[in-house]
Amino acid sequence: MSFPIVRHRRLRQSAAIRGMVRETVLTVDDFIQPIFVAHGSGIKNEISSMPGVYHFSLDTLEEEVKEIVDLGIPAVLLFGIPETKDSVGSSAFDEEGIVQQATRKIKALYPDLLVVADTCLCEFTDHGHCGMVHTFERDGHVCGDVLNDESLDLLVRTAVSQAKAGADIIAPSNMMDGFVQAIRAGLDEAGFSHIPIMSYSVKYASAFYGPFREAADSAPQFGDRKTYQMDPANVREALREAESDVLEGADMLMVKPALAFMDVLRLLRDQFDLPLVAYNVSGEYSMVKAASERGWINERAIVTEMLLGMKRAGADIIITYFAKDAARWLREGK
Ligand code: PBG
Repeated sequence: MSFPIVRHRRLRQSAAIRGMVRETVLTVDDFIQPIFVAHGSGIKNEISSMPGVYHFSLDTLEEEVKEIVDLGIPAVLLFGIPETKDSVGSSAFDEEGIVQQATRKIKALYPDLLVVADTCLCEFTDHGHCGMVHTFERDGHVCGDVLNDESLDLLVRTAVSQAKAGADIIAPSNMMDGFVQAIRAGLDEAGFSHIPIMSYSVKYASAFYGPFREAADSAPQFGDRKTYQMDPANVREALREAESDVLEGADMLMVKPALAFMDVLRLLRDQFDLPLVAYNVSGEYSMVKAASERGWINERAIVTEMLLGMKRAGADIIITYFAKDAARWLREGK
């Protein structure tokens, strides 16, 4: 059957009918808001490359979290800026570490707000890599290998200390092989068999993390992350990464970044039945902010379209620095 019988525009003629046939909807339940926490007091410092995103100290965090709860956002993802860094990232698994303190504070204030802990070492190591490093010199340059199995022990300690502090979900992001299995075993042994793991299963070595590395002060001091994060050219490898996480006991899978990797979201949605998370990363946020500050785009329309695209591609959950804005827009309605 074709034109003139088939007329696609019949179902587009009014807002009511478009609403009725809409296939994908965004709701506030989809969002996770990332937050950066730092030591000190009275701190609310805007990150220069991420307008509208701040470093908060434990006291100023209160007001921010209240706003998030009032908007109905169900979860936050915590990143910490430690006071001291060392070669093994000790502050990542310190009971008095900034993420642990922030977690305790948030859970005391709002027990129903989900705290997702990003479990990684790069914010806490002096070399900025996501694991323990073996360094050596080659042609006068410092080089290094990130040691897989040695790093797993540190990651497990970090995850357990985060769970002890009250984290509801552990989200390991350092891309070491076997990290889900190691963390699952570590959590179970410590009495946290009920705590789910949201694995950064498919995390690409991406230039879109640029602003985050300024925000978290976590740029690698030598080399890059290409020996552990994935090559953006690969997609079959994404299936292998996701499959091993499923076998190791992951409860949720993540694709990161989102915008340039929508095909990967769709593929994982079709191949696996675990809840799927899209991480709308810092560079994706900053590009939109920069263009909208110049008046080149309509921020609300662009962000809504991007987030809808991620859901349409298969994401159930979206980690986004736009969570508060998007929640406000949804509340305001059309
Ligand atoms: C930690 C981590 C990173 C991001 C989330 N967790 C940085 C990285 O891998 O370099 C990036 C988030 C963003 O860009 O918004 N490994």
